[in-house]
Amino acid sequence: MRKVILAGNWKMYKTQGEAAEFLMEFGSQIDDAPETREVVLCVPFTDLDIVNKSLHGSRIRLGAQNVHWENCGAFTGEISANMLTEMGVRYAIVGHSERRQYFGETDETVNLRLKAAQRGGLIPILCVGETKQQRDAGAAEKTIFAQMDLGLQGIDLDRLVIAYEPIWAIGTGETCEASEANRIVGLIRSRLTNRNVTIQYGGSVKPSNIDEIMAQPEIDGVLVGGASLEASDFARIVNYK
Ligand code: 13P
Repeated sequence: MRKVILAGNWKMYKTQGEAAEFLMEFGSQIDDAPETREVVLCVPFTDLDIVNKSLHGSRIRLGAQNVHWENCGAFTGEISANMLTEMGVRYAIVGHSERRQYFGETDETVNLRLKAAQRGGLIPILCVGETKQQRDAGAAEKTIFAQMDLGLQGIDLDRLVIAYEPIWAIGTGETCEASEANRIVGLIRSRLTNRNVTIQYGGSVKPSNIDEIMAQPEIDGVLVGGASLEASDFARIVNYK
């Protein structure tokens, strides 16, 4: 059975005070969503503690936005898997396009981070996706397959989530057509030896398109940026019909 996972990626948004405010509003709005839907909030490192403490007894799972490949060491500005699990973190985004684009993340470092996440007991959410230029050049599939082949070497597919995030659809309001997202997610699945991996779509997911996206047979969930910052919007996404 493929698990349905609705995840928010807050990116570099929300102070602790703002995070607490969000949770007060959000919690009660998702009470009626089916239990089978896993709800994850991937928050900035500085929010982990307060969110973790507010989540006791809640169905919401905690996620981080990155994880380093060593347990400890001279790696200024990085955070390790054991530091995260100590704070109640279950999931960690790895290889988000913003990390690849602005912070020099490569398929090799993505692979190291995925391995460390699994070693440390986290479930990594591997992000893959093509740029507009790659898509226009007919190279979307090739790009995604290369990211998977390099990124997934030595990775346990039983403890993995993949998010297909076309870069041109991130933060632009320009969503990938649901049927096209479904096609690519199907291609990603066909390349995996374990067909039960949860594969999400991400890129301008919002209340107005969530029902159509979740109606696609290959898509098991979403990774949501902007619309996860507003409690009522993210609640509507979790309560998709
Ligand atoms: P938006 O939902 O803001 O397009 O961001 C998507 C994303 O990058 C989630 O990781």
